[in-house]
Amino acid sequence: MKNIVILISGRGSNMQAIVEAGIPGARIAAVISNRADAAGLAWAAARGIATEALDHTAYPDRPAFDSALAAVIDRHQADLVVLAGFMRILTPDFTSHYAGRMINVHPSLLPAFSGLHTHQRAIDAGCAVAGATVHFVTAELDHGPIVAQGVVPVLPDDSAASLAERVLRIEHRLYPQAVRWFVEDRLHINGHRVEVRDVEPAARALVALD
Ligand code: GAR
Repeated sequence: MKNIVILISGRGSNMQAIVEAGIPGARIAAVISNRADAAGLAWAAARGIATEALDHTAYPDRPAFDSALAAVIDRHQADLVVLAGFMRILTPDFTSHYAGRMINVHPSLLPAFSGLHTHQRAIDAGCAVAGATVHFVTAELDHGPIVAQGVVPVLPDDSAASLAERVLRIEHRLYPQAVRWFVEDRLHINGHRVEVRDVEPAARALVALD
């Protein structure tokens, strides 16, 4: 059984998708937020999942918050840390502590559009497709080895909000699948590339063009 600790900052719909996937061999050990009022915390607590809130504004600096956060995560004996809309820049000490056992979902087809406002930037760039990326987390923001990507169209009338909704739907398929592969020990990092053992290579690319 692998312990999964999920970090959120808000709604937590990706966290919900992972919980509801009921992944065999995975135990959701805790859901942790840097915001006590994150809607996802209440959702998880109502389902009997351990929840913790660590208010980043109560800490003097980023390293102090990150080391307090790591202490809480480690108390839950995490085998895998899942960032699910956790809107914090992480210190290199934190990312190296969880090297190879922390993943993130980012709402763009990395390496395009790392950082914020991804959907508007994809629209402004005239992209025909957009999507989401699940990747291992390294010290460089949104640049770790890619586990899987999901592709959706950008439609002529899209606003950032309508595109975000379409991308989110594919995130909800992509992220539980990536967690499942981790739990099944299928993910192997070779340099900057991830090998997913014993699955169809095309399974790393989800496409939803309708
Ligand atoms: C998701 O779209 C996720 O990709 C994004 O925040 C949203 C969280 O939604 N994450 C980032 O932008 C991280 N850089 P959720 O709270 O409903 O899962």
